[in-house]
Formats: sequence, structure tokens, C-alpha cells
Amino acid sequence: MATRGQWGSRLGFILAAAGSAVGLGNIWKFPYITGANGGGWFVLIYLLCILAVGLPIMIAEVMLGRMTQKSPVGAFRDLSGKGSLWVGIGWMGVVAAFIILSYYSVVAGWAMNYIRLAATGVFADTPADQVPGLFGAMYADPGTNLLWHGLFMGLTVFIVLGGVQKGVERWSRILMPMLFVMMLGLLVQAASMDGFGKALDFVFGLHADKLKPAGVLEALGHSFFTLSLGMGAMLTYGSYLSKKDDIVTASAAITLLDTAIALMACMVLFPITFTFGMEPSAGPGLVFMNIPVALAQVPGGLFLSVVFFALLTFAALTSAISLLEVAAAYFIDEKGWSRGKAVGVTGGAILVLGIPSALSGGTELFGKSFEGVFGKNWFDLFDYIASNWLLPLGGLGIALFAAWRVGDAARRVEFGEQTAWGRLYLGWLLVLRFVVPVAVVAVFLHLIGLY
Ligand code: PFF
Repeated sequence: MATRGQWGSRLGFILAAAGSAVGLGNIWKFPYITGANGGGWFVLIYLLCILAVGLPIMIAEVMLGRMTQKSPVGAFRDLSGKGSLWVGIGWMGVVAAFIILSYYSVVAGWAMNYIRLAATGVFADTPADQVPGLFGAMYADPGTNLLWHGLFMGLTVFIVLGGVQKGVERWSRILMPMLFVMMLGLLVQAASMDGFGKALDFVFGLHADKLKPAGVLEALGHSFFTLSLGMGAMLTYGSYLSKKDDIVTASAAITLLDTAIALMACMVLFPITFTFGMEPSAGPGLVFMNIPVALAQVPGGLFLSVVFFALLTFAALTSAISLLEVAAAYFIDEKGWSRGKAVGVTGGAILVLGIPSALSGGTELFGKSFEGVFGKNWFDLFDYIASNWLLPLGGLGIALFAAWRVGDAARRVEFGEQTAWGRLYLGWLLVLRFVVPVAVVAVFLHLIGLY
């Protein structure tokens, strides 16, 4: 495509891809699923999944994008031929993008609403022990959820319309490091709390046998979710990467940064949990309950709360952009739609699709309770289907495709055989060919109940 953009530099790609990876998954979701799964073992399995499955797949995914210079559906078609079943992986990615962004936007809306609550002094006027209750009240309020979901989707559409590269690259350069510094600051504060030792033990101690088999699937699924893998987001970003750049270094940097922020988030939130006698298994409200309580303790805390939730919103935005980009790129590349039409239509569809999630905290929806669907409400169900099934399946497909179908000569060049990483090539290939499929299939079979 003549007008296909490229990142300004390798740093531009790393920032955009890290912007996609680092998001609500790290700061909102990882701590709360760690809490729900009892800590220790869950974290260890998650780290193993990141290293043995996530990083190798990230390299494969970026590679497929750069080789084909296409978005997912086109990429698989180019490499495997029209009508091939492999194209289904691209399709699944587009579906996953719709599903994930629909509820992701609801959570990002909560973060935006929390900027408002902090800025208007609501946290200051509420006694500390009642601040966690503010989350429950918001969660159950349909109007608030719908309003902020709509605002966040509007913001995402606006940015994706205006061209991802210029605006987002520029802001990411400033705000991503700020987020990192803020997390470090919070970590220092958390380290001085009474509950820090208990939190360390909870997150890294391996004594509890609380982990259930479903937790292994959740750890695997989350390693895809947090690195934005398995649905073509990294493939799409890779398609804008220049041939000169080194994929392995970039992938390793992104993975490291993403993992560091997730672990930091745990070490910020759990000391607060234990110090203030809250529950580690508080669920999706964890970050929203803990941060305002902790920041109320420090001078300038209110201002810092505004900054924190603003940074969280920004982190969510850079991830949401990559999700909408996958959905829209399909219609632009495959259906020949203009960017404006594609972004408007997909953004509008996702806005509507998110409505049941926005209403999930209420007791019922259109007079019916949704708690009945596999025992999950709409919001949890979407998250479960996308993170635990669609992304691992997509990731498996990407691994198999990159390792068995793509020609070896081209693959070696893309991997950077001439660089210092060259020696790792065979190891990487073997992992994709055998380790990833065995791991993903074993987890699935277990859950389906086959052994
Ligand atoms: N990686 C993002 C996060 O951790 O918040 C979520 C995400 C973005 C998942 C983009 C998938 C994706 F394609």
C-alpha cells in the first residue's frame, strides 16, 4: 500500500507497542486476578508463561506483520493463500478486538470518573473507611457506567481517526515515563507500610496451594492479554516497523517493561490491602479502592490521585487505540473503506456492544439478571471468552503458522540471524513448534475435562 505509514524510529515502535501492552491489564487486572487466585503460584506460572510462551509469540507476531505489511486477515491470506483455514486466525483476532474493547472501555471509563472524583474533592470529603465503598456505588450505577464508557470510546475514536502515529507517539514519550515514575513513587510509599512484608509473601511466596487448574488457564490467558498477543495487534504494529529494526530486541524490551509494571502494581496495591485490612480478593475494584485510600495518607495526595487516574486513563487509551486499530484496519484493508468510515462504524459498534458490560454491575439488565450465563455477568463473560479462549487460541495459531508454514530463509532474516540474537534462532523455533502448542493444548484439554 503506497500510503502505508512507518514509525518514526525504532523507539516509536517500542513506545507504541509498549503503549498497547501496558494498560489496564497491568495495573487493574493483574493485581486483582493475582488476589483472586491466591498469589504466589499464580504469579510464578504467569511469569513462566510470559517467558516461555509470550515473548516467543510476540517475536513471531511482529515478524508476520513486518513480512506481509498487512493487517491480520490480509497477512494470513498473503502467506497461505485465499480460502485457507489459517485466515480464520485473522478473523478471530478481529472478533477478539471487538469483544475486548467493549468492556475495556467500561473499565477505562471508571478510571476517568475517578479523575473527576479526585479532582472535585469527593475522596477528601469521604472518611477513609468509606472510600472503597465508592467503587461499589459506581459499579452498580448504570448511568455513570454508560456515560464514561461513551466518553472513553469517543476519545479513542477521535485519536484513531486523527492518525495514531503523530499524536500518540508524541504523548507516549512523555506520559509513559511519567507513569513509570509515579509507580516507582507509589512503590516507595508502599514499602514503608506495615503490610509490605505480608504483601511480598503473598505475591512471591510459594506455600499456599490455593491455585486451581482454572488459575493456570487464567495465567496463560493473561500473559496473552497483557502483551496484546494472539489477536493481531502486535502484528498490525509490526507491519509499520522498518526492515532495519531488530525485532527480538524490541520484543524483549516491551515484554520486560510490561512485566515490570505488572509486578510493581502488585507491590503497590497489596501492601495497601494488608495494611488497611482489606481483602486481596476484592475483585475488579481493587485498584479503585486501594489507591485513593493510600494517597489520602500523603501530602498532596488528592493531586496525586488525579495524576494517578489520569495516567491510568492514558495507559488504557494507548491500549484501546491498538484494539480499535485492529478492528478498523480490517475494513480499511479488506473492504476498502475510508479510514473515517471504518473507525466510525467499528467504534460505534463497540460502543453498543459495551452497553451490557456497562450495566453488569447493576443487579439486572432489562429486567433480567445476567448472573446466570456460566455463573458470570456479561462483563466477566466477555473477559473470560476473550482472554482465556480467543487469545490463547489465536496465539497458538500464530505460533504454529510462523513456525511451520513460513519459509525458513525469510524467517531467519526477519529474526536477525546476523545479529547477536542469531544463536537463539533454533531455540526460539523449537519453542514455537513444540513448547507453545503443548502448553496451550494441555491447558485447554484439562479445562474441557479430558484428563
Ligand atoms: N495489553 C492491554 C493491557 O494489558 O491492558 C490490553 C490489550 C490491548 C489486549 C490490545 C489485546 C490487545 F490487542
